[in-house]
Amino acid sequence: MKKLMRTLAPAGILALAMSVVVVSAVRADEAPGHKKVVELAKALEGGKKIEAKQLEAIKKAYDDDLEELMVVFKTRARKGLHIEKTLEDIAEGKPLPKTADLQKMARVSVVMADVIKLFGADKGDKAKKGKKDWEKFSDDMKKKSEALVTATKGGKAGDIKKAATQLSASCTACHKIFRDAD
Ligand code: HEC
Repeated sequence: MKKLMRTLAPAGILALAMSVVVVSAVRADEAPGHKKVVELAKALEGGKKIEAKQLEAIKKAYDDDLEELMVVFKTRARKGLHIEKTLEDIAEGKPLPKTADLQKMARVSVVMADVIKLFGADKGDKAKKGKKDWEKFSDDMKKKSEALVTATKGGKAGDIKKAATQLSASCTACHKIFRDAD
């Protein structure tokens, strides 16, 4: 019996760990700006075109503060929509969240890329890199976000993993150049 327990226990722990990783739906109620971002992501889902003034409105909702805007990406515990952690977990090979939830996150990321782009390069080491690079990173993030939307529609785990990993890499690429070292 003892021996049986010893063989079964690791399997039990694994199952428990996997169930904890499940990500719940994107919640829109954490911050007023988040609500606008999520609304726009939903409009995108409905096939609507996003207008420049809607993106500007989001920028304003965060007081033109990039750091505040980026809270969207943080964990739920830090009032975000848990997007960065989810992407990193997938890149590390952890189990995928529900496809529908991931698709919502990817759409939020599409909207975010456009809003981020509006900030130009007023952050980080301007002497080293400027507006052009900033826009290039934002455009790349948008492309990778759209690719993740497409992959979630296709529903193939391998494609979803690859797309999420590439999106995560596009975030890191910009952070390496523009985010101040901690
Ligand atoms: C075009 C550049 C750029 C892209 C693309 C970008 N970020 Fe950022 N991000 C920044 C900068 C710059 C900051 C620092 C803002 C500040 O502190 O003023 C930041 C800050 C953050 C923060 C807050 C960090 C902290 O500890 O306060 C998070 C979280 C974050 N980004 C997540 C992401 C995720 C996830 C993506 C991709 C889906 C992404 N970012 C894409 C430039 C970018």
